[in-house]
Amino acid sequence: MQIRLILLPESSLTKNEKKLIMSLKQKSLDLKNRMREALSGGGSKAIEKQKAVGKLTARERIIAILDAKSFHEYDLFVEHAARDFDMDKKYLAGDGVITGTGTVFGHPVCIYAQDFTVAGGSLGYAHAKKITKVMDQAMKMKVPLIGINDSGGARIQEGVNSLAGYGEIFYRNTQASGVIPQISVILGPCAGGAVYSPALTDFVFVVDKISKMFITGPEVIKTVLGEDISMEDLGGARIHAEKTGNAHFYAESEQECFDQIKQLCTYIPWNNLKKADRFPKKPPRTRQYKIDDVMPSDPRQPYDVRDIIKSFADDSEFFEIQKLWAANIVIGFSRLDGQTIGIVGNQPLVLAGVLDVDSSDKAARFIRYCDAFNIPLLTLVDLPGYLPGVDQEHAGVIRHGAKILYAYSEATVPKLTVIMRKAYGGGYIAMCSHHLRADFVFAWPMAEIAVMGPEGAANIIFRNEIKKAADPDKVRQEKMEEYKQKFANPYVAAAYGYVDAVIEPAETRKMLMHALDISSSKSVDVVFKKHGVPPF
Ligand code: HXC
Repeated sequence: MQIRLILLPESSLTKNEKKLIMSLKQKSLDLKNRMREALSGGGSKAIEKQKAVGKLTARERIIAILDAKSFHEYDLFVEHAARDFDMDKKYLAGDGVITGTGTVFGHPVCIYAQDFTVAGGSLGYAHAKKITKVMDQAMKMKVPLIGINDSGGARIQEGVNSLAGYGEIFYRNTQASGVIPQISVILGPCAGGAVYSPALTDFVFVVDKISKMFITGPEVIKTVLGEDISMEDLGGARIHAEKTGNAHFYAESEQECFDQIKQLCTYIPWNNLKKADRFPKKPPRTRQYKIDDVMPSDPRQPYDVRDIIKSFADDSEFFEIQKLWAANIVIGFSRLDGQTIGIVGNQPLVLAGVLDVDSSDKAARFIRYCDAFNIPLLTLVDLPGYLPGVDQEHAGVIRHGAKILYAYSEATVPKLTVIMRKAYGGGYIAMCSHHLRADFVFAWPMAEIAVMGPEGAANIIFRNEIKKAADPDKVRQEKMEEYKQKFANPYVAAAYGYVDAVIEPAETRKMLMHALDISSSKSVDVVFKKHGVPPF
């Protein structure tokens, strides 16, 4: 029948067939009209308002992240069923959120974007149902979930149903944790409990002047505490990238943010049963980054550990995470022999690379991410230990510092360690020593592995001799030198087998590639338990 309708000229069709064609055309027109209405979001005025503050629309954002023409939208015609506060008279296109699937570099992803032009992207029951449905799809299909947040929070008119919606999202974020990568992009307000979905995900992206995250806004703070603060100073992008550590990536513009998301996607596996894509191996750009030039000859001089990474990593690439927060430790992805590795490195440029409350948190979470997603870990060590001081003790350096011990001990992915220079005290143990089950520990000849630095050690163990000496400074120097000769080198640790090989810095890439290769089928028997109780 349909073939006949298509093939024959209209003049030869029967009356009934002509009627059928009309009805099909009308249905198609009806679909087009419905789609036009739903796709218009909050209307031209609201879209203009969105653009005026430098924001893209929700659909534009999705399209900018995904491969060209790969986006497939679902649940376009979902509508809310709220009745209170005149809600029954309001049509909210797509209920303020766009959901669907697409690809990034040819790999499938699930995605949603809140549409601020529709009731401020506020989250009601239907809105939440759309999000949880796409989250369930992501879990079923074992593909990453990208969530773009731009919302005034719980839809006030829908009361407890909005709160229930958030609860359902948080539950799914937790179930998906460690199974599929979860990426949150904050491109507008993200207020109240709404911030907790991003906080439960793996990577949070923020954009200068556009992203705002807080539990209670400036008005509540003014009422309750009498304090004046702007939204930007309270929870702007810079605050979360630099001060709170809530954001993992900071960008100046939405486009830069989308580029960062795509770059991240090249490093991570699509789920916890897969490995990251392997890329062709590329040598480091050694003209720019020569390991021997980066490392100062004076052991007291700092250097940028990122330049060390670039001196041995494929194509000298290092994709840094949480660059602006707790800069005394550096974390990020790189490649060796074409394979993704996660790197944790002390940064001698900042606070001599000490471990403190924030740097322990930063490293521990990243270690757990890499372990959950089969990404081998490389640890670069150069630190005087944990940061002493009343502030740190009272801020809970014991509890936070324990996280890094826990994370390394728990991790079963290949763990490679290079002790570059100082590895003192708790810092030596914490930075993936053999005792926490590193698979390979290499040390450079200038490594100093001991309980503490020569000055501190001399002052304690030779206290009486120094005190009684006619020239205490001279004796202190002599004792420091004696201590240095005995302990401030890699050979005592190597004699006990705590260091597997003392290597020239220039041999680092070769040794690491071999260690990675050897570890590629690593398997570890894990003690049965429901889960551990890490020092959260
Ligand atoms: C319903 C909302 C809304 C909300 C905004 N709108 N937030 N509608 N529920 N939560 C609507 C506005 O009424 C307006 O509708 C449109 O969205 C645009 O909002 P504007 O205020 O005009 O935009 P702007 O000036 O840019 O201000 C954005 C804003 C502000 C800062 C986000 O709207 C705001 O403060 N909203 C409330 C934030 C909040 O307190 N949320 C509840 C948090 S508690 P019209 O029709 O005029 O265009 C929460 C609990 C969750 O989320 C707990 C989970 C555990």
